Amino acid sequence: MRGFRSLKLSLRFVIPLVVALGLLALAVVPLVDKLTLRWSVRDMDIRSRLITSTLQDPLQELMTLENRQKINNLLLRATKDERLLALGFCNKELKLIYRTPLFPAEISCSSANENNRKSLHLITLPQGPVHLSVNAIEQNGTQIGSLVLVHDMSYMVRRSADTRNYVILLFIVLGVVISLITVFVAHLSWQGWMEGVRAMLRGEGIIKPFAQPAIESELQPLVGDLKTLLRSLDAERRLADDSTITWSPDTLRKLLHKQLTGEKIIVVSNREPYIHSIKDGEIQVHRPASGLVTAVEPVMRACSGTWIAHGSGNADRETVDAHDRVMVPPDMPEYNLRRIWMSEEEEKGYYYGFANEGLWPLCHIAHVRPVFRTSDWEQYVRINQRFADAVVKEADSDNPVVLVQDYHFALLPGMIRKALPKSTIITFWHIPWPNPESFGICPWREELLKGMLGSTILGFHTPYHCKNFLETVDRYLETRIEHESSTISCRGQLTMVESYPISIQWPPPWQGELPPVEQTKAEILAELGLPSDYLLGVGVDRMDYTKGILERFNAVERMLELHPELVGRFSFIQIAAPSRSVLEEYRAFEARLYALEKRINERFSRDGRKAIILKAEHHEPDQVNRYYRAAQVCMVTSLHDGMNLVAKEYIAARDDERGVLVLSQFTGAANELYEALIVNPYHVEQTAEALYQGLTMPEYEQQERMRSMRAQVRDFNVYRWAGRMLLDAARVRQREKLAARIGRES
Ligand code: G6P
Repeated sequence: MRGFRSLKLSLRFVIPLVVALGLLALAVVPLVDKLTLRWSVRDMDIRSRLITSTLQDPLQELMTLENRQKINNLLLRATKDERLLALGFCNKELKLIYRTPLFPAEISCSSANENNRKSLHLITLPQGPVHLSVNAIEQNGTQIGSLVLVHDMSYMVRRSADTRNYVILLFIVLGVVISLITVFVAHLSWQGWMEGVRAMLRGEGIIKPFAQPAIESELQPLVGDLKTLLRSLDAERRLADDSTITWSPDTLRKLLHKQLTGEKIIVVSNREPYIHSIKDGEIQVHRPASGLVTAVEPVMRACSGTWIAHGSGNADRETVDAHDRVMVPPDMPEYNLRRIWMSEEEEKGYYYGFANEGLWPLCHIAHVRPVFRTSDWEQYVRINQRFADAVVKEADSDNPVVLVQDYHFALLPGMIRKALPKSTIITFWHIPWPNPESFGICPWREELLKGMLGSTILGFHTPYHCKNFLETVDRYLETRIEHESSTISCRGQLTMVESYPISIQWPPPWQGELPPVEQTKAEILAELGLPSDYLLGVGVDRMDYTKGILERFNAVERMLELHPELVGRFSFIQIAAPSRSVLEEYRAFEARLYALEKRINERFSRDGRKAIILKAEHHEPDQVNRYYRAAQVCMVTSLHDGMNLVAKEYIAARDDERGVLVLSQFTGAANELYEALIVNPYHVEQTAEALYQGLTMPEYEQQERMRSMRAQVRDFNVYRWAGRMLLDAARVRQREKLAARIGRES
């Protein structure tokens, strides 16, 4: 197609060229004819004079002797020359007294003389064209007659035809050669030009290391204009995005319909949104404690499609159909959950090993050493491939929109890209991205980075994580990075690296259906056997060393040391969902947490009222929400966290606009929630003081802060998070379509 396009273009040049060459040939051929004729006639003139001068002496002698016989013989011998047709001798009275046998009857001495006088040497007789020449024969300086030489000129007609043919052939060859060169040059230029435009549409710079300088310079002015145009279009769209204040499931649905022509969305994550398990002989379903699931589930409900995840529940197999699919949510099915199975050994290597003993501590600065084993890596590759195969099976077109979630699937984007080159892959990394030195300790760093660069869009929570990623790629891979557009070009694949701060569903699912905060608080206090004026703090986490729960407990202890008046009047409730407890690091952490809780409670419990209430068990979201509403302070003290959605959930739960959030500066959320009390969890006094400040904050200040944070979470909800990524994906798809069209037509 591309060749055809340049051929078409070249024809526009070649056809006029052929016409021009044809016209030129028409003009040139008669000219050449004329010239050849003139040269031949001149040749014949010279030849005739030469023959005459050769015959002059013997003829003069024989004339004197009047030997008629010998004269005839002499003339006859002379005509042995194949071109000399005939000879005649005219006397002074213009009488033809000698003639060879072929002398044309049409020629008389007077007509020959007349023609000679007029320099008309070429005449046409019935037998063909002849050259006629009349030369004087002298004797002792006096002309005694003239010799008439008749040369056959039919050879000249043949030569003229040959010359004409050669000239025409020359023009044809010339035309073909020029056309071929033109087509070739046009093809090269067109290709280079189109390459340039395509590269620009993909957002790449136009200068390539090995590009031809001529092509670059030709394109530069146009590229500048096109880039400006595309940038202003992008800016307009972003503006439109930013001014869409309320992002809702409906906005998202419309976006999908309008910008992505109703594409089916495929989400891939390790953790599934609904887990079926058997309890007391009955199948139960529960929602896991996972920030990822909290964020992506409402998006999926809005978009429909398929969510591919590990079937980890012990009753998961019993609830799927023949294709390992089950419609969820169970009470109001809206999308497909496709479960992927793995053996214990595979889970151990891929999930516990490579993902959670390797990548998790690698990406979090929590001072736990990552462990990398080859056997884990092999399972990680194998399971990534299994999910990639499932994506290919679930896709109903060759260009699906796939949302790849988190560090369990660094290789997946590359694998999907290989199987479905036209797919739009949005990868979101839910945890922090470390600096290049930290990441560099992973033995398979290049493989992971290359895999991730199979993505169309690669999202992180913060610009800082994006910067770290770009620097890591720059350090370890041969790629081209465009900082201006935040894109990486690796082996012809362009990946846009952008920050998309994740969020939660807004309005919250139970908006308007819950009892008033005061009532919930009273109920919780009653359940815990605590008096009604009692103060509560809350922390909600997975049992994970990155969450800073030990530091939080230390801060509670310190606060009680510093403010003993609160001893017996305040309890801190820690909900800690069991997590990854197969791993030694997690079990050790759990043990330390229990020990610390025990020690603090021994010091500060009064009348059976514990300073710390540790609830190390799974809680469903609605239960967690009750604690959020009952607690005056929520503590999020992660040592390092991509975003931390507990902070946002607490804000969403407080429709009474009361409550205080103590928030670690090492969370992504600290970049957005300025009205929280921001702390360094490693600084125990500072954190203790923030807790105290929260417990004693005047209501109007609580309201000011909470109102502002609620507006932030409302406006930057999870629909906006997904919407921005999908909008960017739609933009890329549009550019790719345009580039493909140009490619097809070129
Ligand atoms: C973090 C990760 C998620 C994960 C969640 C729960 O939020 O980013 O990918 O789902 O922790 O961890 P788990 O290992 O139980 O899925």
